[in-house]
Amino acid sequence: MNFVKKLWLGVAASAVLFSGPAASQQGVGDVVYVPTPEIVVEEMLRMAKVGPNDYLIDLGSGDGRFVISAAAKGARAFGVDLDTFLLREARKNAQAAGLSERATFVEQNLFETDLSKATVVSTYLLPSMNLKLRPKIMALTPGTRVVAHDYHMGAWYPDDQRDIPVPEKKVGTAGVSYVYLWYVPAKVAGKWQSQVNVAGKDTAYEMAFDQSFQILEGTMRAGADSAQIRGRLNGENISFITQPKGSPGGQRHEFKGKVSGDSIVGTVRIGDGTAAREAKWTAKLAARGDLKKASDDIQE
Ligand SMILES: C[S@@+](CC[C@H](N)C(=O)[O-])C[C@H]1O[C@@H](n2cnc3c(N)ncnc32)[C@H](O)[C@@H]1O
Repeated sequence: MNFVKKLWLGVAASAVLFSGPAASQQGVGDVVYVPTPEIVVEEMLRMAKVGPNDYLIDLGSGDGRFVISAAAKGARAFGVDLDTFLLREARKNAQAAGLSERATFVEQNLFETDLSKATVVSTYLLPSMNLKLRPKIMALTPGTRVVAHDYHMGAWYPDDQRDIPVPEKKVGTAGVSYVYLWYVPAKVAGKWQSQVNVAGKDTAYEMAFDQSFQILEGTMRAGADSAQIRGRLNGENISFITQPKGSPGGQRHEFKGKVSGDSIVGTVRIGDGTAAREAKWTAKLAARGDLKKASDDIQE
């Protein structure tokens, strides 16, 4: 099923999650409590590669299953919820698993939670809540992973997704769980002055990036040459290509690199096939631009 069709299915199903079917007994705040099936929790943690170096925050932690499963993988994990009954359950479950040091819970509105220390954020919330959280999530350290059960982030298309058959699932999208993974992208919108070093000789290039979430377009200039850029960001990793037409020497360029703040360092493959050469490139930010506004968000 294509992603957009799925988004609409998700929106339709979210009405069910919002109205609170008989299966949802607790939950306080902006959405009722519906637990994520354990096999889905495991798959989401696997997709996000959660491990001992991680700090996971589950927004709306319910009975604590995300937090406790992340702690079982060696991560530090933290859950917030407004439901005192569920918070008590979550703490009891963490204790029973012998993980109460690494799996902690706080009564707090998830919209007020400080996410700055998170390396992974997990949600099972309505699309409208994900959209409200999106600017705060987009501002996190590049490479921070976000995993969401069933509901999307609007025009911020996922970097990875899976459909997991769950025959016993009756709430939201019955019989199946959709899970989504995003990497917070580095922000590169704007103009960059670059040096490409071919055979020991530096050539000046200029890149102008338009960025919409992780998607890049723009223009690359070198002397009188000018070519269109198409590419993407995966956290702090940038990759983009230019076609031969308009590129220096009439040769396709394939750039890869790592963004750290106002600098990029990487390699570029110039040309095709066996004649292709690899060169080092660096870039410095000359003028920061704004990220493009999302015009195609699905609203509820
Ligand atoms: C659909 S459940 C998901 C529970 C858990 N994350 C899971 O996947 O099993 C949503 C949870 O969010 C909590 N919640 C709703 N609005 C909230 C808010 N504004 N702040 C904190 N928690 C909230 C509810 O109490 C409920 O436990």
